[in-house]
Amino acid sequence: MYKELDTSVCTLMSPGPVEVEPRVLRAMCTPILGQFDPEFTEIMNETMAMLRAVFQTKNQWAFPIDGTSRAGIEAVLGSIIEAGDRVLVPIYGRFGQLLTEIAERYGADVVNIETEWGQVFDPQVVIQEMQRVKPKIVAIVHGETSTGCMQPLKEIGEACRAMDILFVVDAVATLGGTAVKVDEWKIDAAIGGTQKCLSVPSGMAPITFNSRVEALLLARKRIERGLVEPGKYKDNQNRMIRSNYFDLSQLMDYWSAARLNHHTEATSMLYALREGLRIVLEEGLEQRFRRHALHEEALTQGLQAMGLKLYGNSECKLPVVTSVSIPEGIEGEAIRSMLLKDFQIEIASSFGPLKGKIWRIGTMGYSCRKKNILHVLGALEAALIRYGAKIHIGRAVQAALDVYHSPESN
Ligand SMILES: Cc1ncc(COP(=O)(O)O)c(C=O)c1O
Repeated sequence: MYKELDTSVCTLMSPGPVEVEPRVLRAMCTPILGQFDPEFTEIMNETMAMLRAVFQTKNQWAFPIDGTSRAGIEAVLGSIIEAGDRVLVPIYGRFGQLLTEIAERYGADVVNIETEWGQVFDPQVVIQEMQRVKPKIVAIVHGETSTGCMQPLKEIGEACRAMDILFVVDAVATLGGTAVKVDEWKIDAAIGGTQKCLSVPSGMAPITFNSRVEALLLARKRIERGLVEPGKYKDNQNRMIRSNYFDLSQLMDYWSAARLNHHTEATSMLYALREGLRIVLEEGLEQRFRRHALHEEALTQGLQAMGLKLYGNSECKLPVVTSVSIPEGIEGEAIRSMLLKDFQIEIASSFGPLKGKIWRIGTMGYSCRKKNILHVLGALEAALIRYGAKIHIGRAVQAALDVYHSPESN
């Protein structure tokens, strides 16, 4: 016989998934409604309205894709890329590689530029490459959780608009934790994540896109429906959106007043997302970003007071993820497993060139709070002492408390 679930209550300090807001968990127990019940379609409309506010956009289209964050990326890229389209993907970590892989699978001619992990691009470098390769789309990550760096987007967005290039942004890590200004930065399509700064479980990917993207989708839909003169496009078949599940033109009908049937909505996840967004807007975007910055400051002060070194260029640090160099002679995984086993705290390792070199600590959503920061600093210090690391003992929690007790933080 299998026992009823009774999981540990962990302090989740990785860059996702993070702890879920208790109100969100409660919302998930709400009884299921039929997806065309007016009570439910009203919940869909409210969710769209709240997503517009969180993405800071006036776009009509803002709704979740059912699936994890990469489902949102696939829906956007797969619906706008036609085979052979040139897509420029600047890579500065693992998730730029993911954008590349997805674009390639939809037949794009992908051009990459790369920079060292721990850095971001000078926007001018991206713009020069745009001028050279003339892509249809630029796709880039806003917050690279693999390195803890954040790419400035405004200049690139303005250049894309001036050159009539579509600008697609992976804001999976940043949405709800730091500003994602879709309209001001001239982002044509953005994808967020639920399991990070929104503190909702993984399983939906909020997206938004503007009328430039909509026009392209509608043109492709006309082909799909045979509304284009026969023979006008020799390669009509190639121009169809390849995926049914991720076809944004069909999803627009599903999320519009037409409510054309597509998939069966993930009802409980929509309840969760709605509650998560309600909490974000109740807190207020600016206040929420200040809260994330305060706890990031307490964490980084504490880590540095212990004598640990932060990894990556501090000028482009992602406020919701802190990368820490693993001290010489210390086995990163041994510390992580001690944190989990003895303190029920989870922090993350990293990938690719940074594997075994850094730990990544998230300060995201509901996990981003004073109790958790003090807990992780105290536990990390204890584990490092246990493994004989040469650190400054007794200073980390005090340095974080200094931040919390400073007049500016009150
Ligand atoms: C920046 C970024 N993009 C995309 C993803 C992929 O998200 P998912 O694992 O939910 O598909 C992640 C996940 O960690 C991420 O951090």
